[in-house]
Amino acid sequence: MWFTTKMRLLAISFFFIAIAYVQSQPTDGYVLEKDVGIAYKLVYQAQNGTKAKEYGEQEGAKLAVPKSEEEYALIQKIVRHMHFPSVVNAEIKLIAWLGINNLKNYKVWKNIDGQNIEDTGFHTWTGQDNGRGYSDDPAEPHCAGVDAINPGLRDWWCHRRQPYVCQKTVNPV
Ligand SMILES: *[C@@H]1O[C@H](CO)[C@@H](O)[C@H](O)[C@H]1NC(C)=O
Repeated sequence: MWFTTKMRLLAISFFFIAIAYVQSQPTDGYVLEKDVGIAYKLVYQAQNGTKAKEYGEQEGAKLAVPKSEEEYALIQKIVRHMHFPSVVNAEIKLIAWLGINNLKNYKVWKNIDGQNIEDTGFHTWTGQDNGRGYSDDPAEPHCAGVDAINPGLRDWWCHRRQPYVCQKTVNPV
């Protein structure tokens, strides 16, 4: 008797904890990463770099910008779990757009808030060739994304349609 009552109380408190947890989550497909206070979402409907940026803004979000190793790892985890068959309209599904490009000045990679990424806490590129910004030739890649495995950013051609990651900053409770 004593045991069942205790179990019932335990079940009830778990129920309320679960409700509190669910209510603290954004409900529009964004998944909150509590440690960094940012909610992320992978958008499977591929768009080119320009369109992806606009879409994020319509949702009150932004293309994701990693500003620390931790944020990069969280974003990459999302890309690693990408369900490839669900990606719509991309020729190459392996890269997801982030909010970083060198469209204004090919020598400086900036995030969509206009900050030089070298000043933000994360500007690691994959390998020797990515992120070099060789010229302002449109034939060069001027947007940046993330793939599932490499330890840094990938430069990529802005006109290509890719899935993309958006983020919303969530105020701490
Ligand atoms: C991006 O896509 C839109 C339509 O979806 C198109 O109007 C625009 O020209 C494209 N931009 C680039 C740089 O390819």
